Parts: sequence; C-alpha cells; structure tokens
Amino acid sequence: MKSDELFALLRRRGFLWPTAEIYGGAQGLFDYGPLGWGLKRRIEEAWTRWFVGLSDDYYRIEPAELLPEAVVRASGHLENFTDLEISCGECHSVFRADALLERYRPEGLDGLASSQVAELLTLYQVKCPTCGKAALAVPRPFNLMFAVDFGPTGREMAYLAPETAQASFLAFSRMWEVGRKALPLGIASVSRAYRNEIAPRQVLFRMRAFTQAELQIFFDPEKFAPSLAAVGDDLLPVLRAERRLAGQAAPEPTRVRDLVDAGILPAFYAYHLALSFRFYRDVLGHPAETIRLFEKSDQERAFYNRIQFDVEVHVDSLGGYREVGAVHYRGDYDLGRHSAGSGKDLTVVTEEGRRILPHVLELTFGVDRNFWALADRHLGKDGERTLFRLPTYLAPVPLGLFPLLKKEHSAYARELQLRLEAAGIPVDFDDAGSIGKRYARGDEAGTPFAVTIDGESVGDGPNHGTVTLRERDSKAQERLAPDALIARIAPRLVVPSAPRPAG
Ligand code: GLY
Repeated sequence: MKSDELFALLRRRGFLWPTAEIYGGAQGLFDYGPLGWGLKRRIEEAWTRWFVGLSDDYYRIEPAELLPEAVVRASGHLENFTDLEISCGECHSVFRADALLERYRPEGLDGLASSQVAELLTLYQVKCPTCGKAALAVPRPFNLMFAVDFGPTGREMAYLAPETAQASFLAFSRMWEVGRKALPLGIASVSRAYRNEIAPRQVLFRMRAFTQAELQIFFDPEKFAPSLAAVGDDLLPVLRAERRLAGQAAPEPTRVRDLVDAGILPAFYAYHLALSFRFYRDVLGHPAETIRLFEKSDQERAFYNRIQFDVEVHVDSLGGYREVGAVHYRGDYDLGRHSAGSGKDLTVVTEEGRRILPHVLELTFGVDRNFWALADRHLGKDGERTLFRLPTYLAPVPLGLFPLLKKEHSAYARELQLRLEAAGIPVDFDDAGSIGKRYARGDEAGTPFAVTIDGESVGDGPNHGTVTLRERDSKAQERLAPDALIARIAPRLVVPSAPRPAG
C-alpha cells in the first residue's frame, strides 16, 4: 500500500489522525485513537517483556520528560544535537539539508561538515524548491531541542527530553541504592521524546513528539559477557559500514559467533544485537529478509556512541529501509559527563571490590515508527477483505464477541464476556449490523478471534452453551464450550520472551 492509502485507512478506522485536524493538522504531530492506543500499548508491553524481562535487575521507570538545562549541557545535547538547516536568500524558506540532498545522497549526511554540504549543493546545482532560485545559503546547525521557560521569571530554562535515555542516566545512582547494588543494572522507560524537526515527514518516522522505548544496561566492561549459547548460531543480516561505503547495498548474513570470534563485536554487543533481530522477526513478525542491521561508521555515529548498528526494516509504503531501533554502545560517556556536570561521584564498587564508572549499552526502539512498520507489513488487501494480520498478542482487541441476534443472544454474550475478561481476555462486544460486517470490522482492526453466540448457544439442544470461534486469517470456524475457548485463546495472547543471558 502507498503511504497515503495506508494513512487513510488507519485514519478511517480511528487508529490515528493529525493533531489539531480541524485546524488543518500540526506538522509532525499525531494523535492516536482507541485502536491506535491499544496497538501502541501492546507494542510497548511486548518490548518490555522481551527486553526488560532479560534480568531481575532490569527495571522500568517513568521520567518527567522535561530536563533542566544543566542536564542537556552536561549530556552534550546543547552543543551537538543539531541538524543542518539551509535557508533561501531569496524567499527565506528553510529546509533540512539532508532532505534537499536526498535524491543525490540517499544515505544521508551524517558526519559531514556544513562546508562539505555546501560543496554538495554546488556540485548538484540544487535550487530552492519553493522559489526555484539558486540562492541557498551555507547550511548551519540547528538545535533540535524544544526550549521552554522554567518557572515564571524566564531566567531558568528547561528542555523537552530529546531522548528518554537521559532519564536512565539521571536515575542511575538512585536505582543503585534502590536495587541490589549489582551490575549489570538495567533502567528502562517508555516515554515521550521531543525534537523540533526542521522538516517533519514520512508520517510517523520524523515526528516532533514521539514515544521511545529505551533500555540502558549499566555494566562492568571487564565482566559483562553473556553466554552466546542461545543465539551464537543465529545468522544476522549485517551491513557493515566499510562494505556499504565501498558500494555494497545488500546485508551479509553472518553468524553471531563469527562476529565475536573475528573481533568485530564484543560478545555483550553481539548477544544484544541478536536479541534485537529476533525481536523484530519473532515478536513483531517482520520476515527475516526484510530486516537489516546497518552499521554506522565512525563519522556517522551519534556523538555518544562507540558502536552503533541501526535496526532497519523494509517499509514498502515509504519505498525503502527505515531505521526502527538501534543498539548503542555508549561506553562511559554518559555517566562521565553527568558526574562532571552534577559534581556527584557516579562510580560504584563492584562485587570484587573494584571502583568503576559503569559502561552503558542502550537498546533503543521507536514505538511510533514500529507502529507504522507493523501496519505497513501486516495491513493489506486479501481479495475483497482488508486484513490486519497482526500477531495475536499485539492485537488492540483480541476478541470480538458477536451475539447473532441482539434481543435473543445478548444476555448470554454478556455473561460470556465476564468469563473471558476474568480469564484476562479483553473483549469488544459488537451487536450492530450483519455478522459479515462485524467480521469485516474486526479484520481491519486486527482482531484475531471472533466469537458468535447463536440460537444453539442459548437453546436446550446438544450445543447448549457452546459458541462459534472464527479465526481471522484462515476464517476457519469451530464450535467450542467456553472453557475450551479460553484454553484455546489465552496462550496465544502471551508475548514470547527472550532467552535470558547466562554467564
Ligand atoms: N537514545 C538514543 C536515541 O534517541 O536515538
């Protein structure tokens, strides 16, 4: 499906729409409706179970999303969190440099200085897209953070969090006290981040307010060596930076163990890269051949990273691979900067009595981007049907409950609803329209199970009490008693969990 078509479908069903739609929308802002809210929560729960579930010493916190200036000064965001903007000397329109040069440099401009970008503009004779004049100025860095007055005097500033990660670094010393005083210690949050994008675009991919799910694992670099037993033989679709910069576009399937044995990646990094790949393939249901692990070169990496692989999936509606997550080895950059900035000693004493500043491995995941990538992959036409083939545990509504006739069958349906809910199965009760229309509504919403209550359910015959279960993808139907129904559905709503690290 094309991006416009997919968005129109999601909007029609109330998954999401532009913020302030009645005012013509606000660039880079979207609101989620009931089904979108439900799907987003399921994605976040799945992410939490997979990654935060890796250890009893990994915890979720809920940050304030507004950071005092001292924090973003220490973190380096005040200085470095910039994109290049270009203005037109003639009509004063402003553009993002990488958007202007996308046709010529689809790989982006990471790591290029503004003088190098200016040379590219000249080389390709880029003109102002608004007025058509050759009057583009030399690009200049534009800080992407939203600054707000903090308090009434206007003398203090705060910043909307540009990444949720900062909350984990700020929480580290408190969580060290709260937790078991052991490394690795994981601190995760699923919360909003805000970026004043010069050119919001590609629907949920470049937004000004978005949700990140991030886990920061604080570890002792001399000790963190999870066993590769569970994932060592996995083939990862890696696209190494040096091959890519030499013109290779296809990822090279590489065994996890080989990446470690060849000294390309430390074991702790390879292990988490493998888990991330499995999350996209086994939990979100992206076919392996649509995923690639894209290494960023020294010049391209974010300023805080030592190793960076972006997880990219092919998003057909946007015509190519898009970054939906990443694995960042941030070293001791963050705790070092915050130690210096706050004056608080953030070193800890390990079990062996060594005093160290922990290193950080960050698993970062864009919830909205992944929302779109899921819709792109799983929502589409199947003949006459519009079908959202979400994995069963991600469906915003797992079960549609349909009394065939409102008057005769609703009482029993309501009774069954209570039993299903008591068993942890949320239900959408729908008694409006023909049964075909109800099935169709459920198919579009991604509802994997539909249960119909009919005359036999409420009659005195041999099928008394039974209902018909219809599966979304196969349309197969079966008559079941309520206990059998619950036993059939409940296990399919459980999100898979990751193999825990040993060693
Ligand atoms: N914390 C990493 C990122 O925002 O991309």
